[in-house]
Amino acid sequence: MSDRDVRIYEVGPRDGLQNEATPIPTGAKLRFIGLLADAGLREIEATSFVSPKAIPQLADADALMAGLDRRAGIRYPVLVPNERGLERAEAAGADAIAVFTAASEAFTQANINMSIGESIDAFRPVLARARDLGWWTRGYVSTAFGCPYQGEVGEAAVVGVAQELIGLGIDELSIGDTIGVGGPADVRRVVGALTASGIGVERLAMHFHDTRGTALANVSSALELGVRCFDASTGGTGGCPYAPGAAGNLATEDLVYLLDREGLTHGVDLDALLVAARHVAGTLGRPLSTKVGQAGGWRVP
Ligand code: HMG
Ligand code: MG
Repeated sequence: MSDRDVRIYEVGPRDGLQNEATPIPTGAKLRFIGLLADAGLREIEATSFVSPKAIPQLADADALMAGLDRRAGIRYPVLVPNERGLERAEAAGADAIAVFTAASEAFTQANINMSIGESIDAFRPVLARARDLGWWTRGYVSTAFGCPYQGEVGEAAVVGVAQELIGLGIDELSIGDTIGVGGPADVRRVVGALTASGIGVERLAMHFHDTRGTALANVSSALELGVRCFDASTGGTGGCPYAPGAAGNLATEDLVYLLDREGLTHGVDLDALLVAARHVAGTLGRPLSTKVGQAGGWRVP
């Protein structure tokens, strides 16, 4: 990858849909994933193998994976919280997983009913098995910029859990602003602490929620620090039911527009992406509310 290449890691089918009150048919999710692939996305987080009681919206994960039209060259990671999730992912034919914990104890407890230390212990056999299978692995560090229960989160806590995940052999870390409270100075502080601790910037992805409108500014800040992977959700949907106050993820269409204006390459076609964005808005029965979704791309007349 050249320094001008940016990876866009699409989380719409998972983070985007996990918090929606409207039940979404599996077929509509599969169509969404197909349209995302058509638009050029090469990493599409498809679903979660979590407890269906915790996230009923993704209770169709097994059926979704069975119906997935897996295209060559596309990675379809799935969330896995424990060994049971790994077994389900393996039976479903997954080859890329994301485990997830956080930098604050209170959120980790609310989200996965474990302490941070317990989550690391739970991931150890999961990641060992994934490594044996030759799978790609990612680890989320949520609430890296603030916790809905505990408030401010210091960068030392983020570095601590990030290093634990690196120690388990994780391929990539996704640093999450779960409730969208951080700004560019926080990005410099947190990414600076991670890289100062010896974690290469090429192993970092940033996961911004646009709750307070700072997501794109945060992307710019991270780009300047050398980060080249960003999570985003087409249609701007998203949030975690266990993170009160979390609003939509950074919209993929807004991210693509910014990257295009920066002259960075990412392989995604904006017009095709907007087809996928309109599909998800239509499925949810509401108008598309993202900036670029409303305004469209810009063409010189
Ligand atoms: P628990 O209740 O402590 O665990 O839940 P348990 O082992 O006692 O299991 C409870 C029940 O769930 C049992 O069923 C298990 O069999 C079942 P019962 O006997 O009651 O019928 N179970 C499972 N079923 C299917 N698949 C599984 C599984 N595991 C247990 N894998 C647990 C602990 C972790 C399972 C639960 O809390 C859970 O699933 N949590 C997931 C929460 C979640 O998905 N949150 C959203 C993702 S995180 C996020 O959005 C943030 C992110 O976007 C980044 C950011 O924004 O910062 C990634
Ligand atoms: Mg999220």
